[in-house]
Amino acid sequence: MDMTPAIDLSAFRHAAVPPRSNERFARPHLVRLPKGELVQTHDGRELRLRSIEPGDVDALKRQFRRLSPEDIRRRFLHAMGELPEPMAQRLCRLDPEIETAFVLMDETVKPAEMRGVGRIYVDLAANSAEFSVLVEHDWTRVGLGALLMQRLVDDCRRRGLGEIWGYVLLENRPMLQLCKELGFTRRLIPDEPGTAQISLQL
Ligand SMILES: CC(C)(COP(=O)(O)OP(=O)(O)OC[C@H]1O[C@@H](n2cnc3c(N)ncnc32)[C@H](O)[C@@H]1OP(=O)(O)O)[C@@H](O)C(=O)NCCC(=O)NCCS
Repeated sequence: MDMTPAIDLSAFRHAAVPPRSNERFARPHLVRLPKGELVQTHDGRELRLRSIEPGDVDALKRQFRRLSPEDIRRRFLHAMGELPEPMAQRLCRLDPEIETAFVLMDETVKPAEMRGVGRIYVDLAANSAEFSVLVEHDWTRVGLGALLMQRLVDDCRRRGLGEIWGYVLLENRPMLQLCKELGFTRRLIPDEPGTAQISLQL
């Protein structure tokens, strides 16, 4: 559901000037306000941070095609040649009760491209949320991973959850380092030798 607030500009028309007849009987002119907020990378590039929406499916699929096999394996914890359509649809259509997903959109290009995604999936019974995060390669090392993780932590706190956690491959040094800096702790999973579970108590 598109929750975009819209503003009816007819309310701002000068009261003393009667509208033209074609305007008087026209449907109200609705202008969409930009959603989310503008954020800057450490090297000065601008992106819009906002919630993911159903209309982001094509941008998500284009982003997937730009990822290296290594990025895909690190994000999804296994190899994937393509992003199946039902999965792309599913990733863009949230159940707000148990999911949050933030995207970083590059609006300097047309169509706008998705440069980063961070999401949580809440386990209500466990009072915790599993996270995942991805920043595409050309946009790494400029603070976006940390920004997305911080926003996910904030969202978990807003929801009153006790823990945020995720699986990270042990060879994924960038992510382990990022999480260490954010105060996450790591534990090994006996059944999954190459994987760690990292978590932050909230
Ligand atoms: C891991 C990932 C999210 C990091 O995103 P990022 O935008 O580069 O992270 P940031 O720029 O915010 O970096 C924050 C800190 O993380 C650490 N870090 C990030 N990349 C690093 C790297 N390549 N080597 C060592 N440390 C790294 C650094 O401490 C960095 O701080 P610094 O730049 O001040 O030194 C990104 O590389 C990525 O999407 N990888 C593929 C998918 C993935 O691994 N997802 C995680 C599993 S869910």
